[in-house]
Amino acid sequence: VSEYSSFESLICQHLGAEQTSRLKQLGRVASSQSQQLYLVGGPVRDLLDGNTPEDIDLMIVGNAPAFAEYLFSNWTELFPQSDAPIDFQSFDKFLTAKLVFPSAVFGGSKTLDFATARRESYPHSGAQPIVSASTLLVDLRRRDFSVNAMAIDVGPECFGKLEDPMAGEQALGARELRVLHDDSFVDDPARLLRAVRFSQRFNFKLAPRTAELFRIGIDSAFLTRLPPFRFFDEMKKSFSERNPYAVLLEFERLGVLSQFDESLRGAPSLESLNSMLVKIEMGRESLASTAEGEGEIAEQWHGVLVLLFAGLSESEFRRHLKHYRVNSKHKRVLLRLWVELNDSLP
Ligand code: CTP
Repeated sequence: VSEYSSFESLICQHLGAEQTSRLKQLGRVASSQSQQLYLVGGPVRDLLDGNTPEDIDLMIVGNAPAFAEYLFSNWTELFPQSDAPIDFQSFDKFLTAKLVFPSAVFGGSKTLDFATARRESYPHSGAQPIVSASTLLVDLRRRDFSVNAMAIDVGPECFGKLEDPMAGEQALGARELRVLHDDSFVDDPARLLRAVRFSQRFNFKLAPRTAELFRIGIDSAFLTRLPPFRFFDEMKKSFSERNPYAVLLEFERLGVLSQFDESLRGAPSLESLNSMLVKIEMGRESLASTAEGEGEIAEQWHGVLVLLFAGLSESEFRRHLKHYRVNSKHKRVLLRLWVELNDSLP
């Protein structure tokens, strides 16, 4: 075994002793199935940046759906001390799977995501990638930014070993977002939105070449190549950020809002955003206490979206939601907020 500096104590510090030993057990189970397990992407970035990760994303060099299914079927024998998952979902086309738990068993979230280490190819700009199983290195190289292209081994041989072939740790220290190749924004224009979102959240600057490529992508309206539901999904994540106003202003400045939807004229005022967020917070508190409120609780992104589309007629708003393939649960919440907002306008 070669020398390496272990991030075990960092993992333990942020996830706690119990979750760390559970993670080790997961690594042992993977190894017993001749597969290798890694923490990957967001949680590695967050740990190395001194933050506790919300989601635990795991990469399996092997077969993620098969591994997750094995865990689901044998959980009680493998992890007698912890809550068993209540659901298993696999997305075979994407070589991913997830386990859903009744409580936060890993990280702060109730789900655990597994992805097979993969190669991705984009048939055309903005398309869903075609994926096939591959190696750790190929998987890290196909990612958006170097800070998101790191993995930590959680297998029994080298628990805590960082895999960082794209120098993500160094970029993290320099607070820099760097794409891994020149076609990154062409392949996946959603990364233009991710660049804005991560720059605002972590106070990152774009590295010089990345900034050039970003400018080309924005000026050439690469974003309009995205299928509307993918554009929508990334906007939703942006509106869920801790400081949605900063992201909105940046989107307005860059012309992203009008690329998202021609009918959008600009970011809402800070005042209207704040009063919407207070209203949502109050609604959460009162609805949370009622059992039937569960599915109807408004989230921050619902509020931001409704403010952006406040000028439309109700039928136009409904048409937009259909266009973005918003599901019926979210549609109900959005329409309720939309009606309340428009009723309160002079
Ligand atoms: N990813 C990518 N290109 C995308 C979307 C995702 O390369 N268009 C990769 C990144 O490596 C990212 C990982 O997939 O880290 C997981 O994506 P996601 O969960 O969306 O992002 P996180 O980095 O986990 O960010 P967040 O903290 O917002 O969850």
